Amino acid sequence: MCGIVGAVAERNVVEILLEGLKRLEYRGYDSAGVALLSSEGDLTRIRRTGKVQELVDAVSEGHAVGATGIAHTRWATHGGVTEANAHPHCSTERIAVVHNGIIENYLALREKLTEKGYQFTSDTDTETIAHTVHEELKAGKSLLRAVQDSVTQFHGAYGTVIMDKEDPSRVVVARSGSPLVIGLGLGENFIASDQLALLPVTRRFIFLEEGDVAEVTRREVTIFDKNGEPVEREVVESNIEHDAGDKAGYRHYMLKEIHEQPTVVRNTLQHRLDEQGLLPDIFGKGADAILKDVKHVQIIACGTSYHAGMTARYWLEQYANVSCSVEIASEFRYRKSVVHENSLLVTISQSGETADTLAALRLAKDLGYMSSLTICNVPGSSLVRESDLAFMTRAGAEIGVASTKAFTTQLTAFLMLTLAIGEHKEMSGDDKQSIVKALHSLPAKLEETLLINEGIEDLAEEFADKNHSLFLGRGDQYPIAMEGALKLKEISYIHAEAYASGELKHGPLALIDEEMPVIVVAPNNELLEKLKSNVEEVRARGGIMYVFADKNAAFKGDESMRVVNVPHCEQPIAPIIYTLPLQLLSYHVALIKGTDVDQPRNLAKSVTVE
Ligand code: AGP
Repeated sequence: MCGIVGAVAERNVVEILLEGLKRLEYRGYDSAGVALLSSEGDLTRIRRTGKVQELVDAVSEGHAVGATGIAHTRWATHGGVTEANAHPHCSTERIAVVHNGIIENYLALREKLTEKGYQFTSDTDTETIAHTVHEELKAGKSLLRAVQDSVTQFHGAYGTVIMDKEDPSRVVVARSGSPLVIGLGLGENFIASDQLALLPVTRRFIFLEEGDVAEVTRREVTIFDKNGEPVEREVVESNIEHDAGDKAGYRHYMLKEIHEQPTVVRNTLQHRLDEQGLLPDIFGKGADAILKDVKHVQIIACGTSYHAGMTARYWLEQYANVSCSVEIASEFRYRKSVVHENSLLVTISQSGETADTLAALRLAKDLGYMSSLTICNVPGSSLVRESDLAFMTRAGAEIGVASTKAFTTQLTAFLMLTLAIGEHKEMSGDDKQSIVKALHSLPAKLEETLLINEGIEDLAEEFADKNHSLFLGRGDQYPIAMEGALKLKEISYIHAEAYASGELKHGPLALIDEEMPVIVVAPNNELLEKLKSNVEEVRARGGIMYVFADKNAAFKGDESMRVVNVPHCEQPIAPIIYTLPLQLLSYHVALIKGTDVDQPRNLAKSVTVE
């Protein structure tokens, strides 16, 4: 979604801002812009629709100089994709603003400001921020005071950076509902919506809290909390790799991230699991004492993370004997739900900033859950800071919009949570041993699975001209079929639906013909024979199938069935293993179709608005 970069320095910051925007491209956007203030107070603004490169080209054509600057990638919400709607937005050529989030009462503000004589040049909610601040400045206030008095008038979400032509030595930033981080440099300071944007210039960060307003100059960062009181916030040293944003020779980030899975899963397990089982308190300080009393687990997430939660339900109930419900965050937050006794709320999120998941967590705090745990990939993110317990998945920065390594590390975390809760329930010694053994074998098994890439490339050729597809799985592979379908539709734009294969004859069989490829996930488990019957149902109706099967599952390929053998693995990790061929299938189909693999149309990496 939208991205923000800002800087206050002595040098020209234009390159820093543009590099920051490039590093935020993965979040999804449709226009980009930059505004610079020179020390003499000259304000230059350049905006373009399309890719950041368009903006870079436009900047290189002109004379863009400024030691203070703000820049933005916009993902349209209010108003179409036009240059006029791109950020930064200005008020009377004095104030320039970039903004993530949505000002929900912007129409009322717009009316009020129009009455005061302000002329709007865009359809955006953001422009009301610029004029509101300008209006407050007219009363002779400092920029800081003007912003503090402005934000009390905004309903909705904002992460915003504001600069004033009449004082190029500072910017003021405000956060409510949209993350902002301040990067600390030597004699220069920076702002961004994501630390990744600033890694080339600093590793020292302050994560602003909800309601914070901060004044940032070259030498100082002064923060005020939601009550306007001065406040100190912790400085965090980032250990994210500087080159996390590089493709490392791969054609796409998605392909790189698919191939990183053995390593990041290994990292996720490291120092958390030994031969006997889990090490103490891996879910956070004091976690074991909490997990001991858990009688129910409520999982909340969106998209791919929701599929990880769906898979976890099978594991928690089968192995750990604990009841579990899973719900999409945007549903959970708007309905009345019943909280079970000693229920643990678990949120899952790659980004830790997904608006619905965060809102669900905040809502749940008043509902009587015994504790909250987040499984997350971004340290310092809102979910991590606001949950009682946190488990970091160590997937590293995930740049491709289509989530891959974040998902398999989430699943790895959930198998560990199954062990941690199962310890205190009636988990059998055999189950425990089998999960521990399976987890130890997982990184190597993932490596072996990636070797089937070539077979999948061939298969994608047959598949790429189809408009619809059906994914089938049973048991803990049903959510994996759902995830496979989501991957395919996200990056290849082929319509894909997933069904628990037992549901076939309750409706979807009517869709089967040679134009509707059916993808089947078939590990060698206790449901294999049932699944084989479902496969016959499809075959009998002239369906064409692509079966990802355990090599011992004895599927024989013929003209109606292409079989790709997947290495045999221990049962508990089969959902993680079978995820890989489905990721690769989507990737190769998208390549053939020529879609934008890393930044699929209309999608954003981190969904920070509702
Ligand atoms: C996955 O490929 C998607 N891009 C999307 O479904 C994503 O998983 C969802 O938006 C949730 O994001 P989160 O994990 O950052 O909360």
